[in-house]
Parts: sequence; C-alpha cells; structure tokens
Amino acid sequence: MSQGLAQHSKDDRQERLAKIREALGPRSIVLIGLMGAGKTAVGRRLANRLEMPFIDADTEIEVAAGATVSEIFAEYGESYFRQGERKVIARLLEAGPQVLATGGGAYMNADTREAIKAHGLSVWLKADIKVLLKRVGRRGSRPLLAGGDAEGVMKKLMDERYPIYAEADITVESRDVPHETIVSAVIDALAIKLGCNAKAAKVQGRKKVK
Ligand code: S3P
Repeated sequence: MSQGLAQHSKDDRQERLAKIREALGPRSIVLIGLMGAGKTAVGRRLANRLEMPFIDADTEIEVAAGATVSEIFAEYGESYFRQGERKVIARLLEAGPQVLATGGGAYMNADTREAIKAHGLSVWLKADIKVLLKRVGRRGSRPLLAGGDAEGVMKKLMDERYPIYAEADITVESRDVPHETIVSAVIDALAIKLGCNAKAAKVQGRKKVK
C-alpha cells in the first residue's frame, strides 16, 4: 500500500473511532461474558483504541471492600459479593463514557441488566469451552472454579448464562487469537450498531450531492 493510501485508511479509522465516541455520548461500553472470555484484556485494549477510560468492575469491588474477590466469597459468601457487585456497577455506570468490564455473574442480575440498558451498550464476548478453560487455567483467583472441576462448572454456567447473555446489544466471538483481533471485531460491530462506518457515510454523502 502506498504511503498516501495508508494515511488515508488511517484517517478513515480515526474518523470511525471519533464517530463511535460521538454516537455513544455518555454511555459506557459494557463487556459481559464468562470467566476467561477476555473481558479485561480486550476491554483495556478497546479503551486504549477509543481513547476512553477503562474500568474493571471486580477491581472496583475489591477497592470498595478492601479485600479480594476470593476473600469476599470466603469471608462473607457469594450473595454478599453479588449485592456489592450490583451497587458498585450501578455507581460506575453513572460515570460514562468508559469501557467497563464486568465479572461473569454481573449481567445475570436483573437490576444490573436494566442499569446497563439505561446507561450503556452491552457487548457479549462469547467464547467456546476450550478457549474459556485455556484462559482461566492461567490464574487461580476465581472462587467459583476453586472446587477443581473447572470444566463441569463452566459447562453449567454456559447453560445457565448464555441465554441471558444473548440479550446483549452486540455479540462478538472471542476466539483463541490475539486480543487485538477481537478488539477490531468489537470496533467493527460497534460501528455497525451505531451507524458509524466512515465509508458508508461518505457514499451516502455522495449520493445526496447527486
Ligand atoms: C464470577 C466471575 C469473576 C468474579 C467472580 C464471580 C462469575 O469475574 O466476578 O469470581 O460469577 O462468573 P471474571 O468473569 O472477570 O473472572
């Protein structure tokens, strides 16, 4: 590609990102999906590309509680964690625009789903069991998987949660490819959903002139 063309497509990409930001307004992009789907890793890079703040809900819960997610589960139980999760996410959603990565169970709460619908655009990073197990194998910080049968737990969670996750505004397959590839797929999907394709807009513009 000549330098002129490369610059042209870079300008198009920047224009498209600016349009996405504009179309979002104060809304957050909210990443949902199972443990290991890549919400934090993809979210961080997505925020970087969109030049928006990145917030990880689990980290915020940990800061608010002064304890890790595992400690909260162990000391107070899952339902206490879920209450905190709902409150913290409701608070975070008031502070958009931003990219917000949520813990895998967050979207299962009806209040949280409502709040996300009101203040954000939800993106489900949908991954198959092989990808999820490969990714969660890397860290031992997930209390739901501490019992040992990660595959069994994950399959059960997929059965319970995938029909609900399917309510998300956008679904992107999170495959075993570099995170940047998934980020590009999310940006493409956002552009389509928000009607921000620079090229399409130009073609339409030309049509109008005729
Ligand atoms: C959970 C997922 C975790 C964390 C907690 C419970 C879940 O977050 O919120 O361990 O219910 O799926 P990640 O999805 O970021 O691992």
